[in-house]
This record gives sequence, structure tokens and C-alpha cells, in this order.
Amino acid sequence: MCGIVGAVSQRDVEGILLEGLRRLEYRGYDSAGLATLNGEGNIHRAREVGKVAALADALAAQPSPGTIGIAHTRWATHGEPSQSNAHPHMSGERLAIVHNGIIENYQELRDQLRAEGYQFTSQTDTEVVAHLIEKFYRTEQDLFKAVTAAIGQLRGAYALAVLHADEPDRLVVCREGSPLVIGVGIGENFIASDQLALLPVTDRFMVLEEGDIADIRRDQISILDRNGEPAERDVNRFEHGQDAADKGEYRHFMLKEIHEQPAVIKTTMEGRLTDSHVLEQALGTEAGKLLEDVRHVQIIACGTSYHAGMVARYWIEELAGVPCSVEVASEFRYRKHVIQKDTLFLCISQSGETADTLAALRQAKKSGFRAALAVCNVPGSSLVRESDLVIMTHAGPEIGVASTKAFTTQLTALLIFTLALARHNGLTEEKEVEIVQALRQVPGQVAEVLALDADIQQLSEAFVDKNHSLFLGRGSQYPVALEGALRLKEISYIHAEAYPAGELKHGPLALVDSEMPVVTVAPNNDLVEKLKSNLEEVRARGGELFVFADREANVKTEDGIHVMQIPPVHPITAPIVYTVPLQLLSYHVAVLKGTDVDQPRNLAKSVTVE
Ligand code: AGP
Repeated sequence: MCGIVGAVSQRDVEGILLEGLRRLEYRGYDSAGLATLNGEGNIHRAREVGKVAALADALAAQPSPGTIGIAHTRWATHGEPSQSNAHPHMSGERLAIVHNGIIENYQELRDQLRAEGYQFTSQTDTEVVAHLIEKFYRTEQDLFKAVTAAIGQLRGAYALAVLHADEPDRLVVCREGSPLVIGVGIGENFIASDQLALLPVTDRFMVLEEGDIADIRRDQISILDRNGEPAERDVNRFEHGQDAADKGEYRHFMLKEIHEQPAVIKTTMEGRLTDSHVLEQALGTEAGKLLEDVRHVQIIACGTSYHAGMVARYWIEELAGVPCSVEVASEFRYRKHVIQKDTLFLCISQSGETADTLAALRQAKKSGFRAALAVCNVPGSSLVRESDLVIMTHAGPEIGVASTKAFTTQLTALLIFTLALARHNGLTEEKEVEIVQALRQVPGQVAEVLALDADIQQLSEAFVDKNHSLFLGRGSQYPVALEGALRLKEISYIHAEAYPAGELKHGPLALVDSEMPVVTVAPNNDLVEKLKSNLEEVRARGGELFVFADREANVKTEDGIHVMQIPPVHPITAPIVYTVPLQLLSYHVAVLKGTDVDQPRNLAKSVTVE
């Protein structure tokens, strides 16, 4: 999705803005641009279709010096990716703006502004906002007041940063539905849609609240809230260290993030478990009282986070005996639903800014749920700020578009939550101790799976010339199969479908032939014998099987079956561990195919528009 960077400084900001854009590349975009105010008081703008590197080349040929500026990576929503649709947009020669989000009433405003004589050079909703602010600037003669008046007429979601050549020492920024942070410097200040963009220049951040509008100067930041009242926002330090956004020794962020899993899963557990028990208070002071009352759980999420929710349903119903429903947020928000008494609304999101998940949360808060709990990775995100209770996953920044450590830490957090809930619903102490001890072994087991990397890389060669693939799992491994299929299709562009193995003969078996690799996860649980029968069904039709199986499950490599042995894992924690070989498999297939592993085509890291 789109990215914003801005700076007000004493030094030249072109390099800071370009580096910020590079650090936002992972979010997905199709064009990039930058505007700075030069020493003669003129705005210089550069925009290019394609990568930030193309913009950097253009700026190398014609530099854009200046101590104040704004920059943007665009992910097309209104109008094709083109230079004229790329941001910044200008109204005349004196006002430049960058925008994330969608203005819903842009057509009506566009018609109105056109009738008043404004000329449009792009198909974007953003240019409408530029002209609207310019219109108010004519009467207000103050950028802050002009932006305030203009946003009063906007419907939709936006984060905006605005620069005016007549006010060379300030940026005016605001947010409503799209994230924006202020990076606090010494004698200079910055803005961005994501803290990672600004790590080379600051580690101190202020997160704007919905409806805030801020006046950013070199040595001063003033904020008004949505009621026009002066507001103070906390300044927090970025907690993940400066190398969080670097690939380090790895070829891709995805590979780095896969290998970080043993460490980050441990971090997710930190302070929340003793050697044998869950520390309920670590989920929040109100957690105990709340969990005692919960009679039903409604989980909402998108994509990978939805798969984490599907695994959690197996756990919640098995361990806590509490009924649990799971639904994708984009469906949930648009249908009528019956809310049972004392239902906990649980939303899961890596970014905490996914538009559909946030919309579902906002709707849920008005619909009579007992409380809203968020499982999230990004501190200060909208989801975190708007939920009653939060379990942070502490995975650290995930840059690869394909989710890896975010998923396994979500599962870890969800299992801890399940144990806390189960304790109020009859889980025996013995069982709690057994599962906590199993959970404590997961980082080591994941490390053992990572050691299979070279073997999995070899296996991946069988997929490179295939166009289709099938993933099978049973029980809580079915969502793992779904996640494996999503991973493969996202980064290798091979069509991948996942089925509960028991569904095979109800249709998908018709697809099986030697051109359709079938990937299966087979931990040693009470479904493994049934799974083996499903595998025979595939084999009998000439299908080639790739099975990740527990050493003790007695599945052997033979004609048509390639078995990769996985260390013995407790059936409850198996979904966490069995996800990892599927991540490695899709990674290696994508590398062999030569696709853009970290920034797959058409996708964005966080989907902040509907
Ligand atoms: C995962 O690889 C995807 N990029 C995508 O499905 C993602 O999980 C989904 O968009 C939800 O994002 P969130 O967790 O940030 O809400």
C-alpha cells in the first residue's frame, strides 16, 4: 500500500526522503515521487513509475535540494500507475501534497472544483484534496487552517502531508483511518506512514490519533484533536533496534524472518509463562475477570491472520470447551450476525492497520460483544489503540510481504490466550503443565526444522515447472495446509489449493495426476492413520506426494512419496512447527523461479484500503 515520508530540517532532506521510501518498498507500490522546497522558495517535484531506484536515478540527474519535503510510494487505486498519477500532487506551483487512503466523495468534489475553474492533471482522488486545500488557502492564508477546513469536507480514509511554498518552515499533516507517525528529532522532525521509514534519523516516535491534525516545524510539534482541542501525544522509543529493517546476512527479508522464528517465538512467551503455567495477569489486569465471563469467541481476521484464527478455533474448543467461530473480516463486516451473550470479539492482525479488520472491530464495538481483544504485532497501531485488551506478538518488524514469523508468533500468543481461557473452563492443572512444557520446546523444534533447509531446497526443484499444487491437512493441520498454499501462491505464483484431506474424494481427487504435486503435513496425532489412507488415494491416481511427517508416524519414502521427517512434536503445538517447512518450501520454489520474493506482484504488506 502507499507510503508517506516527510522531513523538516536544517539539512538537505532529499537523501532522508529517498532512504525512507526505500524502507517502505516492502509495503508494495507501483510508482514513487518526492517534492522539496528549494532555497529560491520553489517546489521541485520528481515522480517516476516503477521502483524507488528509478526515482533516485532521476534525482541524481536533476537533484532536488531543500530542507523541507514530502515523498510517497503509490499503490494505484484511482487511475493506472503513471507519472501523472504518482504523488506528490500539486495545486498550482505553490502547494504539494501526499496522501494514503481513499477519498470516497472525490467525484462530487472534483465536479465542484472543476466548475470553480480548477484543472486536473491526474485521475486520482488526491489531486482533489490538493485543490480543495488551495481553495481554502486563498481565504485563510494559513496552511494549518486551510487543511482543517478542507478535511471537514472529506469522506473516507486518509493520512495527508502538505507543503506550501509560502510557509517554508512547516509541514501540516493529519490522519483519519490511515496510519501516520511523527519522528521526533533534535532540531528537526519527520513524518511517515511507518516508523521503519525513519529509523536512520530517529528512534523516537509519536503516533497520531484518528482525527488529529499536526503542525510540524523544525523545533516544534503542535497537535489539535478532532474537536480542535490542543492534544499531547506520548513520545515512545522504537523498541526493536536499528537492524530490524536490514536483511543482514540473508538474501531476502523472508528468509531472515523465517530464521528469526526460534528467537521471536521465545519473545512472545516471555513474561507470559512460567515453566509450567500461564501468567494470566500478563494478558492485562482485567483479563482474569473478562475470561471468567466469556461463553463464546468470535474471531475475525484476513489472510494469514485468518488462518491463525482457524487454528485457534481447534484449540479453544478442544482445551477450553468454549464455542468459537472464525470469519474473514471482509465478509463479517457486511453481513448480519447473531451475537450470543458474553461473546469475546477477537481480532488478529500483524499490522493492526488492515482496513477490513479495523472496520469489523469498529462495528463490533457497537454491537454488544462482551469485549474486544486484539492479537497484533505493531505497537501503537489502530487495532491496538482501539481494542479493550491487547496481546502483542512481539515478532518485530516483518518486512517480507509473505507472512512468516508473524503467523507463528500469532499462534503462540493465541495458544497462551487459549490456556488462560481454558483455566476458567475446567482445564486440569496437569494438562496446563503438559501444554506449557510443550510450548516451551517449540523454539528448539523450529530450529531443528530450519536445519532441514538444504533438504527442503532440494525438494523444491520438483515444483518449479508445475502450474498447480494441492495441500492437504487434517484437524488443526488443515489451516496449516491453507497457510502453506497461500505462501506458495503468493510468492511463486503457482496455483495452490488446500483441502482438509478427508474432502479429497468429494471432488479434488479429480485434479490429481503426475503434474499435480500434493503436499501434506502429517504430525503423529490421532488422525494420522486416516491421513495415510488419504495419501494412498492420491498415490493410486499417479499423484506425487511430498509429506512432512513425524519421525514416529511411520510414513516412508517410496515410489511416488517423498517424506521429510520432522521431529516429534506435541499434537497441540504441531501447527506452529509444521508451518515452518512449508515456508521454506515456498521460499525455495520462488527463488528457483526467480520471482520477487519480498515484494510479490500485485500485493501489499498491509492492506489499508478496502
Ligand atoms: C500474508 O502473507 C499476506 N500478505 C496477507 O494475507 C496478510 O496476512 C493479510 O493481508 C492480513 O494482514 P494483517 O495480519 O496485517 O491484518
